[in-house]
Amino acid sequence: MSMRIIGTGSALPAKQVSNEELEKLVDTSDEWIRERTGIGCRHISTEETAASLAAEACKKALERAGRQASEVELLLVATCSPEMALPCTACQVQELIGAEHAVAFDLNAACAGFLFALNTAYAYISAGIYHNALIAGTEVLSKIIDWSDRGTCILFGDGAGAVMAEQCESGGILGFVQHSDGTRGGVLACGSRNLENPYFTSQDFMPYVRMDGRAVFAFAVRQVPASIEEVLEKTGIEAGEVDLFVLHQANCRIIEGIAKRLKADPSKFPINLDRVGNMSSAAIPVLLDELNGQGRIIPGMTLVLSGFGAGLTYGACVLKW
Ligand code: ACO
Repeated sequence: MSMRIIGTGSALPAKQVSNEELEKLVDTSDEWIRERTGIGCRHISTEETAASLAAEACKKALERAGRQASEVELLLVATCSPEMALPCTACQVQELIGAEHAVAFDLNAACAGFLFALNTAYAYISAGIYHNALIAGTEVLSKIIDWSDRGTCILFGDGAGAVMAEQCESGGILGFVQHSDGTRGGVLACGSRNLENPYFTSQDFMPYVRMDGRAVFAFAVRQVPASIEEVLEKTGIEAGEVDLFVLHQANCRIIEGIAKRLKADPSKFPINLDRVGNMSSAAIPVLLDELNGQGRIIPGMTLVLSGFGAGLTYGACVLKW
């Protein structure tokens, strides 16, 4: 028993912020940002929330799949930037879309979050526990970024993507690998709220994203190709048989580096981060939805999805569309 994706959806905040606009906030330039990252623009939430963006993306994925919200059995939301600690974002989305029969919960694996959520849904579905799943990645990273830190504020964007998936006899997800390295958590970290009680107050509260960019870069170009090679070997697929590598959109230079290490055709690595920036767990499902909407993914194609980020977390899966 396997699981296949039958619909995709995405939602981006209305407000777009160009590199030129960031020049007014920090000492940076469009040229520097484009050259080092490939990013030209990103969407930044104002009224939109992690839950409202995810709900919009989920509704579109359901519509594309021709399914009703009331049919959904499992609703997973990957996010590392929810506005609310309780209830979880998935339960908020459940209410917003009317998925009253679903079991709903969140999963946080940072930029690998959507991939890990997809794999989790696959595990439930291939075990026969649930028959379908709605899986979303949603982020409002703009609300956890230090907008005076030019090293990080230029990188991120807000948005959400979702897929509707269901049980199938064969095809769909062919296999996956996942890894975590908690010893390197300090490379990319963010506190969530002030930690205090009547007997204790944390002295080192760090409410914004702090990152060692070079360490993240080195990790991504080394571990991501290794995990892709691992999943290809596990599933018996040759790199040349892969039609598209849908990677987490962190940085164009990282994606180019990964393509080079895999000795794969760079045109098989679609990119949208020039328009949307790094949307962490929303990056892969938003890109999938764009490709699907453009007719660039067709039935029978072999795709590799790969996510990587804070934790550190990373992994990949192979699927037949
Ligand atoms: N504008 C202008 N100058 C800048 C900016 C900016 N926005 N940011 C940093 N600089 C300066 C630095 O201060 C430094 O100046 P100095 O030499 O006078 O000290 C210089 O540029 C070089 O800084 P580095 O940090 O060494 O620049 P680097 O070439 O490593 O690029 C970057 C930085 C783009 C963050 C890169 O390390 C990178 O892409 N890392 C990956 C990080 C990433 O993608 N994180 C996303 C989150 S994790 C994930 O999604 C997997």
